[in-house]
Amino acid sequence: MSIIKVKIVNSNFLVILINYFFYLNLLKLKKSITPAMHKTVLKSWEKVDIPILATYFNNIRIWNNLRDYIPHPYTEDDATKFIEAQEVIDPIQNFSILHEDELCGGIGIILKEDIYRMNVELAYWIAEPFWGKGIATEAVRQMTEYTFEKFAINRIIAEVFEYNPSSMRVLEKNGYYLQSVSRKGVLKNDYLYDNYIWIKQKIY
Ligand SMILES: CC(C)(COP(=O)(O)OP(=O)(O)OC[C@H]1O[C@@H](n2cnc3c(N)ncnc32)[C@H](O)[C@@H]1OP(=O)(O)O)[C@@H](O)C(=O)NCCC(=O)NCCS
Repeated sequence: MSIIKVKIVNSNFLVILINYFFYLNLLKLKKSITPAMHKTVLKSWEKVDIPILATYFNNIRIWNNLRDYIPHPYTEDDATKFIEAQEVIDPIQNFSILHEDELCGGIGIILKEDIYRMNVELAYWIAEPFWGKGIATEAVRQMTEYTFEKFAINRIIAEVFEYNPSSMRVLEKNGYYLQSVSRKGVLKNDYLYDNYIWIKQKIY
């Protein structure tokens, strides 16, 4: 009788153990750097995100604030290529942004090379229906913390075009400082604009 009991207990324990490892694997697949309970969460990109990414990122009001190498119009093919490229990058450099479990943006860094290798460049965007809710501010906070922890770098740089005060405000709220203004430093949509260089750094 007691042998049977032990066997039942053992098999229950085995089921719990299997479930536990299965859950751990799920967590590994859905890599997030945000502690539980946050409304705004940074999470690794997944193929399931392709349609939403293509829909939200295909917005001229977002593209106008970004580099020209980013395709516009932005298609599901572009989204697929982007997400597939992320799958082989470790540590993760680009995250999706979720707000109350809804995918609503992206944030990432570009590692600099050669003598600039102690620098990274930060870029981010929020889908238009979600603007003005403090989401970019929280995403930049988490990404800044993650970047300084994960990468052996000294400075995070963010370049903002002169007509984007809300992005500058997001950086300011996260302790970035305006290092310089590159007068007529960027050509966007056939016009020259001032480029505002915002910095957060460890060693001065
Ligand atoms: C810029 C962007 C990321 C901001 O995202 P967001 O989630 O709306 O930003 P937040 O809500 O966290 O914060 C915006 C801040 O800008 C302020 N703001 C908005 N419009 C402003 C304006 N015209 N002038 C000054 N400040 C402004 C808001 O009041 C808020 O600051 P507050 O909290 O002190 O009130 C978003 O608009 C976006 O994705 N734009 C297109 C892509 C882009 O510009 N990416 C950044 C490239 S550098």
